[in-house]
Amino acid sequence: MALRNILKDGDSALRKKSRPVTDFNKRLWELLDDLRDTMTDANGFGLAAPQVGVLRRAFIVLDTRGNDDSDDDDCNVLELINPEIIEASEEMQAGPEGCLSVPGVWGIVKRPMRVKIRAQDRYGNFFEIEGEGMTARGFCHESDHLDGRLFTDVAEKILDRKEIEALFDERKEEDGK
Ligand code: NI
Repeated sequence: MALRNILKDGDSALRKKSRPVTDFNKRLWELLDDLRDTMTDANGFGLAAPQVGVLRRAFIVLDTRGNDDSDDDDCNVLELINPEIIEASEEMQAGPEGCLSVPGVWGIVKRPMRVKIRAQDRYGNFFEIEGEGMTARGFCHESDHLDGRLFTDVAEKILDRKEIEALFDERKEEDGK
């Protein structure tokens, strides 16, 4: 298990456009494994390579598809290398979003309800994957990281302290059900 340092807002690396992954080798696999460890350790939902200072087009997102009461240990991690959003629904969802690189900040961000992505796996094989709801939100949020964008750039509203407390109370209630 290897944890990497998560860069925080203000670090110029988070503002750069990442380059495509060209070598599907052990170095990439180590990066992906470390992203998983680092995200799990930080209780994150997704993590992109530039967030740990590697300016390459790769990210991971927790796979909660079809699994509403996600037991974190059972949760798979989706790995997307050189991802391209090839379809996005016109239907949008406005919802709360945060980021491990912007700790303590939450905002309301409008994202497509469904997106389809074409990407490569860790061995370089191409595949297509569809995400809905939280997964679509994660795909969009992490794709933004690869182009140097943070959710605070696209949020329609940044929540104040009271609104954040209300948001987490709501989640606790949902978890308690
Ligand atoms: Ni983020």
